[in-house]
Amino acid sequence: NITRYYHLELTVLKLSPDGFERPVWTINGQYPGPLIQAYKGDRLVINVTNNLGDPATIHWHGIFQHNTNWYDGVPGQTQCPIPNRVSFTYNYTLEQSGTYWYHSHFLAQYVDGLLGVLIVHDREDPYLDSYDEEYVITVSDWYHSSSAPLLVQRVAPHYTGFNPYPDAALISGVGQYNCSGAPAGCYCNTNVPPPAYKVQKGKKYRFRIINTSAYATFTFSIDNHPLKVIEVEGTLVKNSSAVKVLPIHVAQRYSVILIADQPVDNYYIRASVIDTCLLPRTNDTINYNSSINHNATGILHYHGAGNNKPKSTAYPFTFPLCQDLNASNIRPLKDNPPPNDVTNYFVFETSFARNDDDVGLLGINNSSFVPIFNNPTNQRIMLQENFTDFDTNQNVYGYDIPNGCVQITLLNNQPANHPFHLHGHAFWIVTQGPGAFLSNISTSAYNLKDPVIRDTTMVPEFSHVVIRYIADNPGVWSFHCHIEWHVEMGLVAQLIERPTEFSNETLPDDVRALCMQYDSYSKNHR
Ligand code: C2O
Repeated sequence: NITRYYHLELTVLKLSPDGFERPVWTINGQYPGPLIQAYKGDRLVINVTNNLGDPATIHWHGIFQHNTNWYDGVPGQTQCPIPNRVSFTYNYTLEQSGTYWYHSHFLAQYVDGLLGVLIVHDREDPYLDSYDEEYVITVSDWYHSSSAPLLVQRVAPHYTGFNPYPDAALISGVGQYNCSGAPAGCYCNTNVPPPAYKVQKGKKYRFRIINTSAYATFTFSIDNHPLKVIEVEGTLVKNSSAVKVLPIHVAQRYSVILIADQPVDNYYIRASVIDTCLLPRTNDTINYNSSINHNATGILHYHGAGNNKPKSTAYPFTFPLCQDLNASNIRPLKDNPPPNDVTNYFVFETSFARNDDDVGLLGINNSSFVPIFNNPTNQRIMLQENFTDFDTNQNVYGYDIPNGCVQITLLNNQPANHPFHLHGHAFWIVTQGPGAFLSNISTSAYNLKDPVIRDTTMVPEFSHVVIRYIADNPGVWSFHCHIEWHVEMGLVAQLIERPTEFSNETLPDDVRALCMQYDSYSKNHR
């Protein structure tokens, strides 16, 4: 096992991922940022230099950060933001393997481009012999406005609670916008070539697919090529029947195997926003425009095929939308049943309210999360707006999680879909389904034998999910809906795991020093 060093420099550049030029928050001048790769057991030392003009942090989505909670990258919960013109080094070991990503966790910066892919290979991966080469594909919604003004819409008076509507869809950072819709005077190119992935007939390929959207559920498919799922967010899964159209929600990841067994030709790779999953209903959404093209295409190019446009046609949809991929397709490869001795039960209900200023807030159990960025790390303080009395913002600690096995029942009694992500852990999905009341859940429906294990699960409107995990990772972990617009409305819970086992005194010096730097920065930038 070795230590791998990376340097990430954050800057704002003008780019046109879908043809339409806008300022993009880039990493080493790119969007998406550089691919970070390592092997299981390696240590990653990643120096981040912030030249954005604004503070930032980087979160390593899905990485457990055992004993390094302070490098989880969540401002106001595990670290202070990295001020402009300051460098900070993340340093952690990789116990897991699989498909991950990294992104800013500061305001909605990742929606502006601050993200990249993190792959952890495993020399003992049992699927190594099942493919010849691998590719990484990100799918994402994309906005022509930077996120700051979109967030202002959120807090504008009489905010409606609806979300900004994406302007385009991207495959691996590339999309095709029809520039006739662009305002005059903007740079715009309608003919951005779709990204091409070269294959050789007879070979097998692993595609790693990551949804890095702010908001959108995607379907992903490759014409004429069914896909065998082998990995879900770091968990290898049994070889089951191939999937024609893969639903993938915000922040979810899959690895699939594609067999290049079709006639030598070009085939469309398709990533389409499922507009009906953009809830509340899209026609109430900010900047809604039904003519926007939400389908991104790429090309699967067989070696020896010409440069003709593909003639292939899309698979029809055959599964219920806005739900996780059918669990029977993704049973864990290794026998790994959930623990049966639950010691800590929690029930979390999503809630919505307007405060006295008519700002729409989302919350869990009637309280909405507001991070305090200049809080020294791990002080276990956050501000929550209490829905029953908005005038008394209280400092509350979030939820104490003692040692043991945790069960969280999440009830979503809202007309909105929420892809929930837990930091520091992967969880067993013991059951999920329609109905947002405890009476809708029967323990006899629990799968305690071979449920899916992942770190991000879609909880559709008016439905529930029951998850379990083992509290083996002392620290402050965020549990939140990954729709960025909902994060900014407060749909976040702070889980304080085994609070007696860590304190501010045990923080590394660099993490503390960062807070002092941020403190003086924020005093000069009021
Ligand atoms: Cu992908 Cu809290 O993050």
